[in-house]
Amino acid sequence: MPIAKPLAVGARRFGMAMTQSAPRPVPPPASIDETLALLSGASYIAERALATVVFLSLRLGRPLFLEGEAGVGKTEVAKVLASALGRRLIRLQCYEGLDVATAVYEWNYPAQMMAIRLAEAAGEHDKDRIEHDIFSSRYLIKRPLLQALEPTTNGAPVLLIDEIDRADEAFEAYLLEVLSDFQVTIPEIGVVKAQSAPIVVITSNRTREIHDALKRRCLYHWVDYPDAAREIAILRAKAPRAPERLTAELVAFVQKLRKQDLFKSPGVAETLDWARALTELDAVALDPAQVSDTLGVLLKYQDDIVKIHGAKAHELIEEARAELRLAEPR
Ligand SMILES: Nc1ncnc2c1ncn2[C@@H]1O[C@H](COP(=O)(O)OP(=O)(O)OP(=O)(O)O)[C@@H](O)[C@H]1O
Ligand SMILES: [Mg+2]
Repeated sequence: MPIAKPLAVGARRFGMAMTQSAPRPVPPPASIDETLALLSGASYIAERALATVVFLSLRLGRPLFLEGEAGVGKTEVAKVLASALGRRLIRLQCYEGLDVATAVYEWNYPAQMMAIRLAEAAGEHDKDRIEHDIFSSRYLIKRPLLQALEPTTNGAPVLLIDEIDRADEAFEAYLLEVLSDFQVTIPEIGVVKAQSAPIVVITSNRTREIHDALKRRCLYHWVDYPDAAREIAILRAKAPRAPERLTAELVAFVQKLRKQDLFKSPGVAETLDWARALTELDAVALDPAQVSDTLGVLLKYQDDIVKIHGAKAHELIEEARAELRLAEPR
């Protein structure tokens, strides 16, 4: 069996040669406004600065590096881009000890052993030939980074490298080769290079700093907590069953909560969970006792819950309501 050649050496552009039957990928947005519309069409309510960096990343073919607190919508950007652009989402979840065998490729040793036995049983004794055969792409197990470089018929995939700060620095260094040239080297096969660069989204929760060398290859954006107007828009899109007054009050409350001295402030994910939980409990507005009883949906540390429970929750509700009254048109 012949050794596989490098997949392709191609222009780093999005969109590929299509087969007749393949569904057409959605063309990348042509402006920042189109990017905002594309994201909101998939229920992602982005601030303009994020839409700008997403637009540029698609346009320039540069990886997007999103950093921010937990639950602010970093991972969702990759998911939404894949679904809105009609691309395959390939996800690499990082963790300590992540290695090339899990992230890029590994050889299928049991299948190789079997092939050697079968070849020998069939009277094949040419060691070079056997070696040549078993180190071919047939015995290669492709992991996410290699999958993302493969030719596709439906536009380059979205490659999500999630929570890079959890991986070791050695792995981060390995990513440099992949992200600069969109290629990986497999000693037994050669260089595998993408025909079309994948759309790369890297996220980090900033549990440690990521090397400048990696960041330099990317467009960087800090994903912040949304302001009240955007958080209300997110709730309308993602928790539409929540009554209007409840939505306004709980967003004002959460915004105030984020200004408190807490070990872990609630992210958008927690606001959404809380809105859904209170809706399930038939709430139409915030009630101090109910807020205290459901704080565990918003806050995940007992010290934080103790701090807010009871009088403080009551005080924050009153402040939130006063603020909303002031904002009402006269
Ligand atoms: N701007 C937004 N528009 C719509 N939904 C959002 C937005 N931001 C966050 N969400 C929602 O909040 C939830 C959490 O988002 P996501 O998982 O992307 O957060 P994250 O920043 O990756 O968090 P973590 O660091 O914990 O992984 C998801 O359900 C997502 O849909
Ligand atoms: Mg995430």
